[in-house]
Amino acid sequence: MMTDDLAALRTEAEAALAGAADLRALDAVRVAVLGKSGSLSGLLKGLGAVPADQRKERGAALNRLKGEVEALLEARKTALEAEALTARLKAERLDVSLPPRPFAPGTAADGGIHPISRTIDELTAIFGSMGFRVVEGPDIEGDWYNFGALNIPDHHPARQDHDTFYMPGTDAAGQRLVLRTQTSPLQIRTMLGEPPPIRIIAPGRTYRADHDATHSPMFHQVEGLVIDRGITLGHLKGCLTDFLRAFFGISDLPVRFRSSYFPFTEPSMEVDIGWNRKTGELGGGGDWLEILGSGMVHPKVLANCGLDPREWQGFAFGMGIERITMLKHGMPDLRPFYESDLRWLRHWAADPLAPASLHEGI
Ligand code: DAH
Repeated sequence: MMTDDLAALRTEAEAALAGAADLRALDAVRVAVLGKSGSLSGLLKGLGAVPADQRKERGAALNRLKGEVEALLEARKTALEAEALTARLKAERLDVSLPPRPFAPGTAADGGIHPISRTIDELTAIFGSMGFRVVEGPDIEGDWYNFGALNIPDHHPARQDHDTFYMPGTDAAGQRLVLRTQTSPLQIRTMLGEPPPIRIIAPGRTYRADHDATHSPMFHQVEGLVIDRGITLGHLKGCLTDFLRAFFGISDLPVRFRSSYFPFTEPSMEVDIGWNRKTGELGGGGDWLEILGSGMVHPKVLANCGLDPREWQGFAFGMGIERITMLKHGMPDLRPFYESDLRWLRHWAADPLAPASLHEGI
């Protein structure tokens, strides 16, 4: 049985809870009723003074009331939180259909080409002049294209080095899905998709679980592949030397080929350019800076794509687009590439009306 004072307390608490307009007010009610010197706590403390024959019943009633008040409090809290969330969602609503603000035509505010896109345009112009085509492939790859076919077996350390993002599920052929860690799968897709001779570049997004001033989990690479009869290391060296000199705009840029290792090339070479470590200036200075990886396509990779290595040879290369862009323009930090800061974009954007071309002098 609830005695009158308990019934009154309950009514009072209910009214106070219903009247609490926000989480702060609700907490004030909780303290006033259940807190150390709250009304209900006071009654519980006074239990000792209740005559022994009524104590048990009164104690039980008090505890029941306490449980009820706690449940009411919790329910009101949930309701208030939901209200707050709804209000926030409404206030922070973003209308993605909002059209862009109109700019006066012919002003600088018209827009510009992002430095990554500009570098891709320049790569396309330079390699295009040497007879290369641009190809594209999916960002989500089967793991055979990204690793297996490139002679990177299941337990090869390169799989860990690449800090791969694996995706749930498999593709139609039962391959594990990955966010491609390199553009090299385009070598495989191209060789499987068309007969040689092949001359392609494949610029695009790549992904690795890595994040600091010079690494981003999403970045860009460009892959290159040449397959024909009688292709030698001499072709590779000539092609990449010409490319680097054209891209950096230094006709006598020192270029060095240093032996290295990649699972999909044999022999493999890292390519360095001359620079001055102290001033950061490219060209002279006597220091070397690593720019890209390259090599003669491994016979196993050719065979994986159905090409007879005795008949067809070729070379491949791969480099980071952000890296060559930062070097060319002296940009210190990778992160602003993806932050959409208008001040940075306005500073580095290229003129959309002056597209990259060899005739214009890149
Ligand atoms: N895929 C390599 C990487 O991401 C770069 C690379 C090296 C590509 C040598 C090539 C190559 O085609 O021949 O580190």
